[in-house]
Amino acid sequence: MHPAGVKIATRGAKILRPAAPGAASTIMKAVILAGGEGTRLRPLTLSIPKPVAPVVDRPFLRHQLDLLAGAGVSEVVFSVAYHPEQVEAVFGDGRGFGIRIRYAVESTPLGTGGAVKNAEPLLDERTIVLNGDVLMDLDLASIVARHEAAQAAASIVLTPVRNPEAYGLVETDLEGRVLRFVEKPRPEQIRTNTINAGVYVLETPVLELMPPGVQYSIERGFFPTLLERGDRVLGPVHEGYWIDIGTPQQYLQVHHDILARRFPVELDGEPRAGGWIHKDATVSEGTALEAPFYVGPGCRVEPGAHLGPNAVLVADVHVAPGARVRDSVIWRAARIGPEAEVAKSVVGPGVALGRSSRLVGGLLGEGSVLSDYSRNS
Ligand code: GDD
Ligand code: MG
Repeated sequence: MHPAGVKIATRGAKILRPAAPGAASTIMKAVILAGGEGTRLRPLTLSIPKPVAPVVDRPFLRHQLDLLAGAGVSEVVFSVAYHPEQVEAVFGDGRGFGIRIRYAVESTPLGTGGAVKNAEPLLDERTIVLNGDVLMDLDLASIVARHEAAQAAASIVLTPVRNPEAYGLVETDLEGRVLRFVEKPRPEQIRTNTINAGVYVLETPVLELMPPGVQYSIERGFFPTLLERGDRVLGPVHEGYWIDIGTPQQYLQVHHDILARRFPVELDGEPRAGGWIHKDATVSEGTALEAPFYVGPGCRVEPGAHLGPNAVLVADVHVAPGARVRDSVIWRAARIGPEAEVAKSVVGPGVALGRSSRLVGGLLGEGSVLSDYSRNS
Protein backbone atom coordinates (compact mmCIF):
# COMPACT_ATOMS: atom_id res chain seq x y z
CA MET A 1 0.00 0.00 0.00
CA HIS A 2 1.22 3.45 -0.91
CA PRO A 3 1.80 5.86 2.04
CA ALA A 4 -1.27 7.89 1.07
CA GLY A 5 -3.38 4.76 0.98
CA VAL A 6 -3.17 4.47 -2.77
CA LYS A 7 -3.25 1.04 -4.24
CA ILE A 8 -2.30 0.22 -7.76
CA ALA A 9 -3.88 -2.88 -9.14
CA THR A 10 -1.02 -4.86 -10.54
CA ARG A 11 -2.98 -7.83 -11.79
CA GLY A 12 -1.78 -8.53 -15.29
CA ALA A 13 0.72 -5.68 -15.08
CA LYS A 14 3.85 -6.03 -17.13
CA ILE A 15 7.22 -4.37 -16.94
CA LEU A 16 7.23 -1.29 -19.11
CA ARG A 17 10.22 -0.35 -21.18
CA PRO A 18 10.52 2.90 -23.08
CA ALA A 19 10.43 2.49 -26.84
CA ALA A 20 13.74 2.56 -28.66
CA PRO A 21 14.70 6.11 -29.68
CA GLY A 22 13.29 6.93 -33.08
CA ALA A 23 10.87 4.01 -32.99
CA ALA A 24 7.60 4.62 -34.79
CA SER A 25 4.57 5.26 -32.60
CA THR A 26 4.31 2.41 -30.10
CA ILE A 27 1.20 1.11 -28.41
CA MET A 28 -0.81 4.09 -27.27
CA LYS A 29 -2.03 4.04 -23.73
CA ALA A 30 -4.85 6.01 -22.19
CA VAL A 31 -6.09 6.83 -18.72
CA ILE A 32 -9.80 7.30 -18.13
CA LEU A 33 -10.59 9.39 -15.05
CA ALA A 34 -13.57 7.60 -13.65
CA GLY A 35 -13.33 8.13 -9.91
CA GLY A 36 -15.73 11.01 -9.32
CA GLU A 37 -18.80 10.39 -7.17
CA GLY A 38 -21.21 11.75 -9.77
CA THR A 39 -22.86 13.94 -7.12
CA ARG A 40 -24.92 15.86 -9.67
CA LEU A 41 -26.56 12.60 -10.78
CA ARG A 42 -27.57 11.50 -7.28
CA PRO A 43 -29.54 9.48 -6.30
CA LEU A 44 -28.88 7.41 -9.43
CA THR A 45 -25.13 7.33 -8.80
CA LEU A 46 -25.51 6.24 -5.18
CA SER A 47 -25.79 2.65 -6.34
CA ILE A 48 -24.40 2.79 -9.89
CA PRO A 49 -21.26 4.85 -10.64
CA LYS A 50 -21.32 7.12 -13.69
CA PRO A 51 -18.81 5.03 -15.73
CA VAL A 52 -21.23 2.12 -15.84
CA ALA A 53 -24.48 4.11 -15.91
CA PRO A 54 -26.35 3.05 -19.01
CA VAL A 55 -26.35 5.35 -22.00
CA VAL A 56 -29.08 3.89 -24.21
CA ASP A 57 -27.92 0.29 -24.72
CA ARG A 58 -24.46 0.18 -23.10
CA PRO A 59 -22.47 1.28 -20.07
CA PHE A 60 -21.24 4.81 -20.59
CA LEU A 61 -17.52 4.07 -20.74
CA ARG A 62 -18.01 1.69 -23.63
CA HIS A 63 -18.63 4.74 -25.81
CA GLN A 64 -15.21 6.03 -24.74
CA LEU A 65 -13.52 2.68 -25.32
CA ASP A 66 -14.88 2.71 -28.86
CA LEU A 67 -13.40 6.18 -29.42
CA LEU A 68 -10.00 5.12 -28.06
CA ALA A 69 -9.88 1.81 -29.89
CA GLY A 70 -10.77 3.62 -33.12
CA ALA A 71 -7.72 5.86 -32.69
CA GLY A 72 -5.37 2.94 -32.17
CA VAL A 73 -5.22 2.94 -28.37
CA SER A 74 -4.77 -0.63 -27.23
CA GLU A 75 -4.38 -0.28 -23.46
CA VAL A 76 -6.46 1.73 -21.03
CA VAL A 77 -6.01 2.37 -17.34
CA PHE A 78 -9.30 2.99 -15.56
CA SER A 79 -8.60 5.37 -12.72
CA VAL A 80 -11.29 4.54 -10.22
CA ALA A 81 -12.11 5.46 -6.65
CA TYR A 82 -15.88 5.25 -6.28
CA HIS A 83 -17.54 1.80 -6.46
CA PRO A 84 -14.46 0.41 -8.29
CA GLU A 85 -15.74 -3.15 -7.95
CA GLN A 86 -18.76 -2.33 -10.11
CA VAL A 87 -16.64 -0.83 -12.84
CA GLU A 88 -14.38 -3.87 -12.80
CA ALA A 89 -17.35 -6.25 -12.78
CA VAL A 90 -18.66 -4.69 -16.00
CA PHE A 91 -15.41 -4.15 -17.92
CA GLY A 92 -13.04 -6.78 -16.48
CA ASP A 93 -9.75 -6.96 -18.35
CA GLY A 94 -11.31 -5.51 -21.49
CA ARG A 95 -11.76 -8.79 -23.30
CA GLY A 96 -14.96 -8.39 -25.25
CA PHE A 97 -14.36 -4.64 -25.58
CA GLY A 98 -11.40 -4.94 -27.95
CA ILE A 99 -8.95 -3.20 -25.65
CA ARG A 100 -6.80 -4.17 -22.66
CA ILE A 101 -8.01 -2.62 -19.40
CA ARG A 102 -6.11 -2.24 -16.15
CA TYR A 103 -7.17 -0.51 -12.96
CA ALA A 104 -5.52 2.10 -10.77
CA VAL A 105 -7.64 2.20 -7.63
CA GLU A 106 -7.55 5.08 -5.14
CA SER A 107 -8.72 4.33 -1.63
CA THR A 108 -9.48 8.02 -1.27
CA PRO A 109 -10.05 10.18 -4.35
CA LEU A 110 -6.86 12.00 -5.35
CA GLY A 111 -8.40 14.56 -7.69
CA THR A 112 -7.97 14.66 -11.46
CA GLY A 113 -4.18 15.20 -11.34
CA GLY A 114 -3.47 12.88 -8.43
CA ALA A 115 -5.39 10.18 -10.26
CA VAL A 116 -3.20 10.46 -13.37
CA LYS A 117 -0.07 10.50 -11.20
CA ASN A 118 -1.33 7.38 -9.45
CA ALA A 119 -1.60 5.62 -12.81
CA GLU A 120 1.90 6.70 -13.91
CA PRO A 121 3.65 3.35 -13.24
CA LEU A 122 1.29 1.74 -15.75
CA LEU A 123 2.02 4.22 -18.56
CA ASP A 124 4.72 4.65 -21.15
CA GLU A 125 6.06 7.69 -22.94
CA ARG A 126 2.87 9.26 -24.28
CA THR A 127 -0.52 9.19 -22.60
CA ILE A 128 -4.04 10.07 -23.61
CA VAL A 129 -6.18 11.22 -20.67
CA LEU A 130 -9.96 11.30 -20.83
CA ASN A 131 -12.47 12.59 -18.33
CA GLY A 132 -14.77 9.66 -17.76
CA ASP A 133 -17.99 11.54 -18.39
CA VAL A 134 -17.56 13.17 -21.79
CA LEU A 135 -18.82 11.92 -25.11
CA MET A 136 -17.68 13.23 -28.48
CA ASP A 137 -17.00 12.21 -32.06
CA LEU A 138 -13.38 13.33 -31.86
CA ASP A 139 -10.76 12.49 -34.47
CA LEU A 140 -8.25 11.58 -31.79
CA ALA A 141 -5.67 10.19 -34.21
CA SER A 142 -5.34 13.59 -35.90
CA ILE A 143 -5.05 15.36 -32.52
CA VAL A 144 -2.16 13.03 -31.64
CA ALA A 145 -0.54 13.62 -35.05
CA ARG A 146 -0.69 17.42 -34.58
CA HIS A 147 0.65 17.09 -31.05
CA GLU A 148 3.55 15.02 -32.30
CA ALA A 149 4.29 17.30 -35.28
CA ALA A 150 4.43 20.34 -32.97
CA GLN A 151 6.53 18.46 -30.39
CA ALA A 152 4.13 19.67 -27.72
CA ALA A 153 4.45 18.72 -24.07
CA ALA A 154 0.69 18.58 -23.81
CA SER A 155 -2.41 19.06 -25.94
CA ILE A 156 -5.74 19.98 -24.41
CA VAL A 157 -8.69 19.36 -26.71
CA LEU A 158 -11.06 22.34 -26.66
CA THR A 159 -14.68 22.73 -27.56
CA PRO A 160 -16.80 25.87 -27.90
CA VAL A 161 -19.73 26.20 -25.46
CA ARG A 162 -22.23 28.90 -24.58
CA ASN A 163 -21.65 28.74 -20.79
CA PRO A 164 -17.92 28.40 -20.01
CA GLU A 165 -18.54 29.05 -16.30
CA ALA A 166 -19.29 25.38 -15.62
CA TYR A 167 -16.04 24.24 -17.23
CA GLY A 168 -12.32 24.95 -17.61
CA LEU A 169 -11.86 28.05 -19.76
CA VAL A 170 -8.91 27.82 -22.15
CA GLU A 171 -7.48 30.78 -24.09
CA THR A 172 -5.21 30.19 -27.06
CA ASP A 173 -3.16 32.40 -29.40
CA LEU A 174 -3.70 32.55 -33.16
CA GLU A 175 -1.50 29.49 -33.69
CA GLY A 176 -3.58 27.44 -31.28
CA ARG A 177 -1.06 27.49 -28.45
CA VAL A 178 -2.63 27.62 -24.99
CA LEU A 179 -2.08 30.89 -23.12
CA ARG A 180 -4.30 30.51 -20.08
CA PHE A 181 -6.33 27.85 -18.25
CA VAL A 182 -8.95 29.01 -15.73
CA GLU A 183 -11.05 26.31 -14.09
CA LYS A 184 -14.67 27.36 -13.40
CA PRO A 185 -14.04 30.99 -14.39
CA ARG A 186 -15.93 33.89 -12.88
CA PRO A 187 -18.01 35.86 -15.42
CA GLU A 188 -15.43 38.68 -15.59
CA GLN A 189 -12.69 36.17 -16.46
CA ILE A 190 -14.48 34.91 -19.58
CA ARG A 191 -12.86 36.26 -22.73
CA THR A 192 -13.44 33.33 -25.06
CA ASN A 193 -15.91 30.49 -25.54
CA THR A 194 -13.47 27.59 -25.77
CA ILE A 195 -13.35 25.20 -22.84
CA ASN A 196 -11.42 22.11 -21.87
CA ALA A 197 -13.25 19.17 -23.47
CA GLY A 198 -11.67 16.74 -21.00
CA VAL A 199 -9.23 15.01 -23.40
CA TYR A 200 -5.48 15.50 -23.15
CA VAL A 201 -2.41 14.17 -24.89
CA LEU A 202 0.53 14.28 -22.48
CA GLU A 203 4.19 13.47 -22.88
CA THR A 204 4.37 11.25 -19.82
CA PRO A 205 7.64 12.74 -18.42
CA VAL A 206 5.77 16.01 -17.69
CA LEU A 207 3.95 14.13 -14.94
CA GLU A 208 7.09 14.78 -12.89
CA LEU A 209 5.43 18.14 -12.11
CA MET A 210 2.70 16.40 -10.16
CA PRO A 211 3.22 15.63 -6.49
CA PRO A 212 2.70 11.91 -5.78
CA GLY A 213 0.21 10.50 -3.32
CA VAL A 214 -1.71 13.70 -2.57
CA GLN A 215 -4.90 15.34 -3.80
CA TYR A 216 -4.01 17.37 -6.87
CA SER A 217 -6.06 18.95 -9.64
CA ILE A 218 -4.91 18.70 -13.24
CA GLU A 219 -6.99 21.79 -14.07
CA ARG A 220 -6.11 24.06 -11.15
CA GLY A 221 -2.60 22.78 -10.47
CA PHE A 222 -0.94 20.98 -13.34
CA PHE A 223 -1.96 22.98 -16.43
CA PRO A 224 -1.30 26.43 -14.91
CA THR A 225 2.10 25.18 -13.70
CA LEU A 226 2.98 23.78 -17.11
CA LEU A 227 2.05 27.11 -18.75
CA GLU A 228 4.03 29.12 -16.21
CA ARG A 229 7.03 26.94 -16.93
CA GLY A 230 6.67 27.86 -20.62
CA ASP A 231 6.08 24.36 -21.98
CA ARG A 232 4.46 24.08 -25.38
CA VAL A 233 0.78 23.33 -24.80
CA LEU A 234 -1.56 23.05 -27.78
CA GLY A 235 -5.29 23.68 -27.74
CA PRO A 236 -6.81 22.05 -30.84
CA VAL A 237 -10.51 22.86 -31.17
CA HIS A 238 -13.02 20.06 -31.70
CA GLU A 239 -15.99 21.44 -33.63
CA GLY A 240 -18.10 18.25 -33.67
CA TYR A 241 -20.40 16.69 -31.10
CA TRP A 242 -19.42 17.05 -27.44
CA ILE A 243 -21.26 16.64 -24.16
CA ASP A 244 -20.48 16.14 -20.46
CA ILE A 245 -23.15 13.74 -19.16
CA GLY A 246 -22.68 14.75 -15.52
CA THR A 247 -26.01 16.53 -14.89
CA PRO A 248 -29.54 15.11 -15.20
CA GLN A 249 -30.37 17.47 -18.09
CA GLN A 250 -27.24 16.53 -20.00
CA TYR A 251 -27.71 12.84 -19.22
CA LEU A 252 -31.17 13.03 -20.82
CA GLN A 253 -29.81 15.17 -23.65
CA VAL A 254 -27.24 12.58 -24.71
CA HIS A 255 -30.04 10.04 -25.07
CA HIS A 256 -32.03 12.40 -27.27
CA ASP A 257 -28.91 13.05 -29.32
CA ILE A 258 -28.17 9.37 -29.87
CA LEU A 259 -31.80 8.60 -30.75
CA ALA A 260 -31.80 11.53 -33.19
CA ARG A 261 -28.47 10.35 -34.64
CA ARG A 262 -26.75 13.62 -33.76
CA PHE A 263 -24.21 11.30 -32.18
CA PRO A 264 -23.87 8.12 -34.23
CA VAL A 265 -24.01 4.81 -32.34
CA GLU A 266 -24.95 1.41 -33.80
CA LEU A 267 -27.69 0.55 -31.33
CA ASP A 268 -28.35 -3.05 -30.37
CA GLY A 269 -31.88 -3.34 -31.73
CA GLU A 270 -33.96 -3.72 -34.85
CA PRO A 271 -35.16 -0.48 -36.45
CA ARG A 272 -38.94 -0.13 -36.19
CA ALA A 273 -41.28 2.83 -36.60
CA GLY A 274 -38.42 5.31 -36.30
CA GLY A 275 -36.98 3.70 -33.17
CA TRP A 276 -35.20 0.51 -32.14
CA ILE A 277 -36.55 -2.62 -30.50
CA HIS A 278 -34.20 -5.31 -29.23
CA LYS A 279 -34.87 -8.79 -30.57
CA ASP A 280 -35.43 -10.06 -27.01
CA ALA A 281 -38.04 -7.43 -26.17
CA THR A 282 -41.81 -7.81 -26.44
CA VAL A 283 -43.77 -4.81 -27.62
CA SER A 284 -47.50 -5.50 -28.01
CA GLU A 285 -49.23 -4.67 -31.24
CA GLY A 286 -51.49 -2.21 -29.47
CA THR A 287 -48.62 0.03 -28.30
CA ALA A 288 -48.49 3.58 -29.62
CA LEU A 289 -44.92 4.19 -30.74
CA GLU A 290 -43.80 7.77 -31.25
CA ALA A 291 -40.32 8.08 -32.76
CA PRO A 292 -37.64 8.03 -31.63
CA PHE A 293 -37.43 5.40 -28.88
CA TYR A 294 -35.32 2.44 -27.77
CA VAL A 295 -36.61 -0.74 -26.17
CA GLY A 296 -33.85 -2.92 -24.75
CA PRO A 297 -33.54 -6.66 -24.13
CA GLY A 298 -36.04 -8.33 -21.83
CA CYS A 299 -38.47 -5.38 -21.85
CA ARG A 300 -42.20 -6.00 -22.05
CA VAL A 301 -44.57 -3.30 -23.22
CA GLU A 302 -48.29 -4.03 -22.82
CA PRO A 303 -51.13 -3.02 -25.16
CA GLY A 304 -52.37 0.53 -24.88
CA ALA A 305 -49.04 1.87 -23.65
CA HIS A 306 -47.53 4.93 -25.33
CA LEU A 307 -43.77 5.12 -25.86
CA GLY A 308 -41.93 8.20 -27.07
CA PRO A 309 -40.78 10.47 -28.24
CA ASN A 310 -37.36 9.97 -26.66
CA ALA A 311 -38.29 7.03 -24.47
CA VAL A 312 -35.41 4.70 -23.57
CA LEU A 313 -36.16 1.43 -21.78
CA VAL A 314 -32.71 0.07 -20.94
CA ALA A 315 -33.45 -3.60 -20.16
CA ASP A 316 -36.04 -5.85 -18.45
CA VAL A 317 -38.44 -2.92 -18.02
CA HIS A 318 -42.15 -3.64 -17.73
CA VAL A 319 -44.59 -1.04 -19.07
CA ALA A 320 -48.18 -1.83 -18.07
CA PRO A 321 -51.28 -1.17 -20.20
CA GLY A 322 -52.08 2.49 -20.73
CA ALA A 323 -48.77 3.77 -19.29
CA ARG A 324 -46.98 6.60 -21.09
CA VAL A 325 -43.22 7.19 -21.22
CA ARG A 326 -41.67 10.11 -23.05
CA ASP A 327 -38.39 12.10 -22.88
CA SER A 328 -37.16 9.70 -20.19
CA VAL A 329 -34.68 6.95 -19.49
CA ILE A 330 -35.89 3.91 -17.55
CA TRP A 331 -33.11 1.74 -16.11
CA ARG A 332 -33.04 -2.01 -15.73
CA ALA A 333 -35.99 -3.90 -14.23
CA ALA A 334 -38.14 -0.86 -13.43
CA ARG A 335 -41.91 -1.30 -13.56
CA ILE A 336 -44.24 1.37 -14.87
CA GLY A 337 -47.76 0.72 -13.59
CA PRO A 338 -51.03 0.86 -15.51
CA GLU A 339 -51.94 4.36 -16.72
CA ALA A 340 -48.79 5.79 -15.10
CA GLU A 341 -47.10 8.72 -16.82
CA VAL A 342 -43.36 9.43 -16.95
CA ALA A 343 -41.85 12.47 -18.65
CA LYS A 344 -38.44 14.21 -18.56
CA SER A 345 -37.27 11.79 -15.88
CA VAL A 346 -34.63 9.22 -15.11
CA VAL A 347 -35.99 6.17 -13.33
CA GLY A 348 -33.40 4.02 -11.55
CA PRO A 349 -33.08 0.23 -11.51
CA GLY A 350 -35.89 -1.77 -9.94
CA VAL A 351 -38.10 1.26 -9.36
CA ALA A 352 -41.84 0.60 -9.15
CA LEU A 353 -44.28 3.27 -10.29
CA GLY A 354 -47.82 2.56 -9.17
CA ARG A 355 -51.07 2.74 -11.08
CA SER A 356 -51.89 6.20 -12.47
CA SER A 357 -48.81 7.71 -10.83
CA ARG A 358 -47.19 10.67 -12.54
CA LEU A 359 -43.50 11.60 -12.59
CA VAL A 360 -42.40 14.71 -14.47
CA GLY A 361 -38.82 15.96 -14.31
CA GLY A 362 -37.99 13.39 -11.61
CA LEU A 363 -34.93 11.35 -10.67
CA LEU A 364 -35.65 8.15 -8.77
CA GLY A 365 -32.84 6.14 -7.17
CA GLU A 366 -32.59 2.37 -7.18
CA GLY A 367 -35.57 0.56 -5.71
CA SER A 368 -37.77 3.63 -5.15
CA VAL A 369 -41.50 3.10 -5.03
CA LEU A 370 -44.13 5.58 -6.13
CA SER A 371 -47.44 4.32 -4.78
CA ASP A 372 -50.67 4.26 -6.79
CA TYR A 373 -51.90 7.72 -7.83
CA SER A 374 -48.80 9.50 -6.40
CA ARG A 375 -47.58 12.46 -8.45
CA ASN A 376 -44.85 15.04 -8.30
CA SER A 377 -46.56 17.63 -10.47
N1 GDD B 1 -9.88 8.73 -10.40
C1 GDD B 1 -10.43 9.91 -10.10
N2 GDD B 1 -10.15 10.45 -8.88
N3 GDD B 1 -11.24 10.50 -10.99
C2 GDD B 1 -11.80 11.69 -10.64
C3 GDD B 1 -11.55 12.31 -9.40
C4 GDD B 1 -10.68 11.64 -8.48
O1 GDD B 1 -10.41 12.09 -7.38
N4 GDD B 1 -12.24 13.48 -9.36
C5 GDD B 1 -12.90 13.57 -10.54
N5 GDD B 1 -12.64 12.49 -11.31
C6 GDD B 1 -13.14 12.22 -12.67
C7 GDD B 1 -14.66 12.28 -12.75
O2 GDD B 1 -15.21 10.99 -12.56
C8 GDD B 1 -14.89 12.80 -14.16
O3 GDD B 1 -14.93 11.74 -15.09
C9 GDD B 1 -13.66 13.63 -14.46
O4 GDD B 1 -12.66 13.26 -13.50
C10 GDD B 1 -13.92 15.14 -14.36
O5 GDD B 1 -14.50 15.42 -13.10
P1 GDD B 1 -15.87 16.23 -12.96
O6 GDD B 1 -16.19 16.31 -11.53
O7 GDD B 1 -16.90 15.69 -13.89
O8 GDD B 1 -15.40 17.67 -13.43
P2 GDD B 1 -16.21 18.82 -14.19
O9 GDD B 1 -17.15 18.25 -15.17
O10 GDD B 1 -16.76 19.76 -13.18
O11 GDD B 1 -15.01 19.59 -14.95
C11 GDD B 1 -14.06 18.88 -15.71
O12 GDD B 1 -14.60 18.51 -16.97
C12 GDD B 1 -14.92 19.63 -17.83
C13 GDD B 1 -15.43 19.04 -19.15
O13 GDD B 1 -16.57 18.30 -18.93
C14 GDD B 1 -12.80 19.75 -15.89
O14 GDD B 1 -11.81 18.95 -16.49
C15 GDD B 1 -13.10 20.98 -16.75
O15 GDD B 1 -11.91 21.69 -16.99
C16 GDD B 1 -13.70 20.52 -18.09
O16 GDD B 1 -14.07 21.67 -18.87
MG1 MG C 1 -17.84 16.33 -15.64
